[in-house]
Amino acid sequence: MKAFAVDPVKNSLEEPSFFQVEMDRPHLGPRDVLVEVKAISVNPLDVKRRMLVTTTKGDGASTILGWDGCGVVIEKGEDVSLFQLGDEIYYAGEITRQGSYAQYQAVDERIAGHKPRSLSFERSAALALTTITAWESLFDRLRVVPIVNKAGDRLSPLSHPAKSILIIGGAGGVGSMAIQLARQVAGLKVIATASRPSSISWCESLGAHHVVDHNQNWVQAVRDLGFQHVDHVLILNDTDAHFDAACELLAPQGLMCSIVPNQKPLNMDALRAKSAGFFWEAMFVRSKEKTPDMVEQHHLLNQVAAWIDRGLLRDTGTQFYAPITAAHLRQAHLALQSQRTIGKIVLSSYE
Ligand SMILES: NC(=O)c1ccc[n+]([C@@H]2O[C@H](COP(=O)([O-])OP(=O)(O)OC[C@H]3O[C@@H](n4cnc5c(N)ncnc54)[C@H](OP(=O)(O)O)[C@@H]3O)[C@@H](O)[C@H]2O)c1
Repeated sequence: MKAFAVDPVKNSLEEPSFFQVEMDRPHLGPRDVLVEVKAISVNPLDVKRRMLVTTTKGDGASTILGWDGCGVVIEKGEDVSLFQLGDEIYYAGEITRQGSYAQYQAVDERIAGHKPRSLSFERSAALALTTITAWESLFDRLRVVPIVNKAGDRLSPLSHPAKSILIIGGAGGVGSMAIQLARQVAGLKVIATASRPSSISWCESLGAHHVVDHNQNWVQAVRDLGFQHVDHVLILNDTDAHFDAACELLAPQGLMCSIVPNQKPLNMDALRAKSAGFFWEAMFVRSKEKTPDMVEQHHLLNQVAAWIDRGLLRDTGTQFYAPITAAHLRQAHLALQSQRTIGKIVLSSYE
C-alpha cells in the first residue's frame, strides 16, 4: 500500500518533509477493522510526533503519522461485532499504532464510530480526535450534564440557571467542537477566547455567547461581560500562560480541565483556596491502556454523528487538500505550526 513517512534527513521544524513509501497492509488484531482510508485530518500532535521521529528515532520510513481518518471497512478481525464490511467509519486511532497517512489503516472497532451520513468523507475526517477530546473534557472530566436526549430533543426545562464555561483557544480544532457541545448539548453559557477577527467570528458562528481575546487581560474582559466567576474553565492552549488567570476566574467549587501539558509547576494552591478541581484530559488514554470502558469512544462518536445528521452540531473542516501527497502534507504541517488555524485541515484521496 501507499503511505507517507517522515524524511528523517530533510525534516526540520521549518521544513516538514515527507516521502512516499510502499508498505504491507497492517496486520489485524481480533477487534480490528481494516479501513480503506478516504480522507484524513491533521492535528498539532502530528507536528509533535514528526519532530520526535527526526530527533530521537531517526527512522522515518517505519513510522507513519496521522490519527484522524475516515474510510470504508474492507476487512474484519475475528471478534469484530460493531461494524460490517462496507461500513463508513471515522476514528482517531491509537497513539502507538501506524497512522492514517496511508491507504489502509487498522483500527480497533471500540474507538471508531459510524461517520455522519450527512457529511462527506472529507468533512467527517475532520471530526474524531477533536470530538473525543472535547466530549471527554466536558462530560467526563468537568462532569457537565447534557440537556438534550440521544435524538437531540431538548429535555425538560432546567430548574436552575445555566452554568458558565470559559473555553481558552476556542477557534482551534478542539475548541470548535467544545463550543458546540457546551452550547448545544450542555446548554452552558459559553465564553470562548480568540484573538483575530476571523477566529472571533468563527467562535461566534459555532455558538459562543461571548468571545474575549486571550492575548489581553481576559479576566477583566470576562468580568466586564458580567461574569464575576465562571463555573468551568477548559484550557486548550498554553496551560502555563493561562493557568493563574483561569484560577482567578474559576468559581469556588468550580472545575477546570486542561488538555495541554505544562512546562513549569502549576500553583495548585490557588485551586485549594477555592475548593476547586483540576483534571487532565488525554484522549489516547482509553485506547493505550485498554481501559474497560474504551468502547465509550465508539458510542460518543456515533452519538455526535447522529447529532450532526440531526443538525444540532456542524462539521469543522476549513481547509481541504487533495490528493494526499508529500507536498500537501508539508503544507498542512506548516499551517498547523503557525498555531493560527481555524477549525481543521483535511486531506483526501490516495489516488
Ligand atoms: N490532551 C489531549 O487529549 C489533546 C487532544 C487534542 C489536542 N491536544 C493539544 O491541544 C492543543 C490544541 O489542539 P487544537 O487541535 O485545538 O489546536 P489548533 O487547532 O492548532 O489551535 C489553533 C488555535 O489556537 C489558538 N491559539 C494560539 N495561541 C493561543 C494562545 N496563546 N492562547 C489561546 N489560544 C491560542 C488560535 O486562536 P487565535 O488565532 O484566535 O489566536 C488558533 O485558532 C494542542 O497543543 C494539541 O496538541 C491535546
